[in-house]
Amino acid sequence: MSTTVDAWVTILVVGIGAIFALHHRRNALGQALNEPPILSYLIPFVGHALWYRRRSIEVYNATRGPITEPIAKFSLTLMGQRIYIVTASKDVSVVYLSKSLLFTLLVLYGPGSMFDISKDGRDMIAYDYDGPHSSLTYQRGRQNQCIPRGMKVLLHDWARTILGTASTIVMMGPPILEEEPNLLDYNWQFNADVWTSSFERVYRDSKTKQKDVIWWVEALPRMMAEAGTTAAHDISAGTFTIWNALQANSNPASFWLLLQIATFPGLADRIRKSITTTFDSNEKVVDVELLVNDPLLRSTFNETLRTFSSSMCTRLVMEDTIISDYNFRKGAAVKCPIRPQHWDADIWGPDVEEFVPDRSIREPANGLIRGDAKLVRPFGGGVSLCPGRFFASYEVLSFVGALLFKYDIKLAEGANVPRPDLNAPTLGISSPLNDVEVIIIKRFK
Ligand code: HEM
Repeated sequence: MSTTVDAWVTILVVGIGAIFALHHRRNALGQALNEPPILSYLIPFVGHALWYRRRSIEVYNATRGPITEPIAKFSLTLMGQRIYIVTASKDVSVVYLSKSLLFTLLVLYGPGSMFDISKDGRDMIAYDYDGPHSSLTYQRGRQNQCIPRGMKVLLHDWARTILGTASTIVMMGPPILEEEPNLLDYNWQFNADVWTSSFERVYRDSKTKQKDVIWWVEALPRMMAEAGTTAAHDISAGTFTIWNALQANSNPASFWLLLQIATFPGLADRIRKSITTTFDSNEKVVDVELLVNDPLLRSTFNETLRTFSSSMCTRLVMEDTIISDYNFRKGAAVKCPIRPQHWDADIWGPDVEEFVPDRSIREPANGLIRGDAKLVRPFGGGVSLCPGRFFASYEVLSFVGALLFKYDIKLAEGANVPRPDLNAPTLGISSPLNDVEVIIIKRFK
C-alpha cells in the first residue's frame, strides 16, 4: 500500500516539476525570441485562464502599458495557448493589414462546428479567401402594458423584437417567420435545432418561400456553388450565419442609442429638431439618406458605438511576424480588444469617460478635442472588416430616427438604468446587465 502511495507521490512531484521546468523554458525562449513579455501568473499551463474567464476587461487593462507605449506590455497564456494583446490603435491597424495573421481559420472553430457545416463547406470557407464570407461588401407578440396614448415596455426586449423582426423580414421575406414565429426568441436562447430546420425548409422550397429575400441571400448559393458547395444544409447554414450576425449587434446598438437619447438631458428634442426636414406632414420619412446622415444623430450613434462596443478581433499567427519591434510567433493568437482604443484619453481627450453626443461634430475648446469618427472601430478591420457595417448603420439610424420623431420615450418611475455587461463574451456590442422599463407615447394624434 505504502509503495503505491510513494509511487503516486513521486509521479505527482515529477509531473509538477516537469510542468514548472517546461513553463520556465517556454518563458525564457519567449524572451530570447523577443515575444511581448508575459503577464505574471501562478499556475503553469492554466496561466491566466481562470482570471480571464471571470474578468476579461480587468485582464486587458492589466496588459495595457502606459499610454505612451506603442504596444501592450504583456501577453497572456490561456491553457497553454500564447495570446498577444494589441491595444494601441496604430498597431491594431498593422495587425488588420498583416497577411500572415489570419481570421478565417478561427471562423471554423465557431460557426463551422456550432452550425454543423460539412467538411466541404468548411474547406470552402477556409481556403477561398474571396468566398462569400469576405465578399459581402454591401453593405413578435409580447404582453405590453397599455397606458393612455402609449405603452410601458422593457426597452431592450422591445427594441430587439421590433428591429429584429423588421430586419429579418427585409433579409428573408415574411415566410421565415411564418415558418418559425419564435425564431428570434429561439435565437436569443440559442436553440440550434430550430434554425437548421426553418432555414433549410425555406431554402428547399425557395421558389415559393424565398421570393422576397434580399439580393445577397439569392447570391449566396451561386457564390457557394462556384466555390464547389451545393449542399442545401451548408447553404442554409451560411444564410443562417449571416442572419445571426444581422441580429447580434444592430439590435443592442439600437437599444443603447435609444437609451442614451432617452436619458441624456435635452438630446431627444435637439435630434428631433435636426431631423425634422427629413419627414413629411404625415410623419413619413421622405429622405432616408438625409436622416441617417444627420450630423447630430450620426455623432450620437458614433459615441454609442465608442461607449458600448466590446468587440475583440482575433487572428491566428500563420508565420513569425514582427509587430512594433516584437516577434509574434507562429501558432499564437492575437487579440485586439476595442475598449482600450475607445477609452484612450490620448485619442479622445480628457472627457474620454463621458458620453458626449456631439463628440465628433463639436468645435475643439477648453482642452476638449473633436473626436475622429474614423477611430471608432466597432466593426473590426482588414479582410474580415464587418461586411454588414453600412447596412447596420442605415438600419439602426433609420429605426431610431423614425421612432424618435414619432414617439416620446421616457424612463418609467423607479427604472434601473443598466450598465453594459463587460465580462460576457460578445461579437461586437455589449448586452445590458438588466433590461429597463420605459414609457413610449405617440407625439402626434
Ligand atoms: C452595429 C452592428 C455590427 C457590429 C458592431 C458588427 C461587428 C462585427 C465585427 C467586430 C466583426 C469581426 C471583424 C474582424 O474580426 O475583423 C464582424 C464580422 C462580420 N459581420 Fe458584423 N457587425 C455588425 C452588424 C452586422 C450586420 C447587420 C451583418 C449582416 C447583414 C454583419 C455581418 C458580418 C459578417 C458576415 C462578418 C464576418 C466577416 C468575415 O468572416 O470576413 N454584421 N462584425
